[in-house]
Amino acid sequence: MKKYISDFTIVGKETYGTQYFKLVLQHPEVLPEILPGQFVEVEVEGQKNVYLRRPISIHDVDTANNTLSLLIQVVGKGTTQLSHLQVGDKLNMVYPLGKGFTLKGNNVLLVGGGCGLAPLLHTARCYAEKGIRPTVLLGGRTADLIPIKDDFKAFANLHFATEDGSLGEKGLVTNHSMFSQNYDHIITCGPNPMMKAIARYANSNNISCEVSLENSMACGIGACLCCVADTDNGHKCVCKEGPVFDASDLKKWSES
Ligand SMILES: Cc1cc2nc3c(=O)[nH]c(=O)nc-3n(C[C@H](O)[C@H](O)[C@H](O)COP(=O)(O)OP(=O)(O)OC[C@H]3O[C@@H](n4cnc5c(N)ncnc54)[C@H](O)[C@@H]3O)c2cc1C
Ligand code: FES
Repeated sequence: MKKYISDFTIVGKETYGTQYFKLVLQHPEVLPEILPGQFVEVEVEGQKNVYLRRPISIHDVDTANNTLSLLIQVVGKGTTQLSHLQVGDKLNMVYPLGKGFTLKGNNVLLVGGGCGLAPLLHTARCYAEKGIRPTVLLGGRTADLIPIKDDFKAFANLHFATEDGSLGEKGLVTNHSMFSQNYDHIITCGPNPMMKAIARYANSNNISCEVSLENSMACGIGACLCCVADTDNGHKCVCKEGPVFDASDLKKWSES
C-alpha cells in the first residue's frame, strides 16, 4: 500500500483519567483506504531528546470527515509531549503503516488489554460494515484503566474484566467466561503475557487467531530492523510484515 506523510490538524481532544487521551485528526484531502490494525508514525515536536517518530495504532476512521483518531497512553517523553497538543495544533504523520487484520470469521472475538484496545474500534466498525457484530472483551487492572467503553456499543457486544472487579468479571481478561463460547476467529492486542495466553489458547483449540504485536520501533517502514520478531517462519519486521501476525506463526513466541 502507498504510504503518505503529511500534516493533520487536531480537531478534537478528549482525556480519560490520568493516563489516556484521544486525538481526532483531520486531513484536508480524502484519506486513502486504512485497514483496521494499521498504524501511523507520529512526529514529536518540541522535545529535543525525542528524535524518533512514535508508532500509534489507528483507533478509528471517519471517511466522511477525512478524520482519523488516535488513543494514546502517556508512558514516557514522547507521549507526554503529545499529550500537550491542543485542538488547532498540527501533527505530522506517516500513514498508513503495516498490515492490518484480515477481517476473517463470522463469529468473532476481539480482546484488548489496556491501550491495546486502540486498534479494535476501527476493527469492530469494519466487521459491522460487513454485517458481523463481533464480541469485544476489554480488560485492565481497574475500570479507570479501560479508557474507551461506550464507543464500541454501536458495533459490538461488549464485556469487561478487571483485576479488582471494578468493572465486569473480576480477574484476568484471559479467564473471562466469554472464552467458553465458540468463535471462528479471535483478534487480540495488548500486553504480551495476555496475547501469548490467547495465542496458546487459540492454537491449542484450532481457532484462527490474529495477534497485533507492539515491538519497539524506529523507522516504521522496514529499513532499520529494530522491530524484528522471532516467528515460527523466521525473523520478521513487525512494522512491515506485521504488526498483525497469525497466531499459528507465533507458536514459539507464545510459549516463551
Ligand atoms: C504498532 C504499534 C502500535 C502502537 N499503538 C499504540 C496506541 O495505539 N496507543 C498507545 O498509547 N501506544 C501505542 N503503541 C506504543 C507506543 O508506541 C509507545 O508507548 C510509545 O512509543 C512510547 O513513547 P514515549 O516516548 O512516550 O516513551 P519512551 O520514553 O520511549 O518509553 C517509556 C516507557 O515505555 C516503554 N515503551 C516504549 N515503547 C513501547 C512499546 N512499543 N511497547 C511497550 N512499551 C513501550 C519503554 O520501554 C519505557 O519503559 C504502539 C506501538 C506499536 C509498535
Ligand atoms: S521499525 Fe525499522 S524495520 Fe521496523
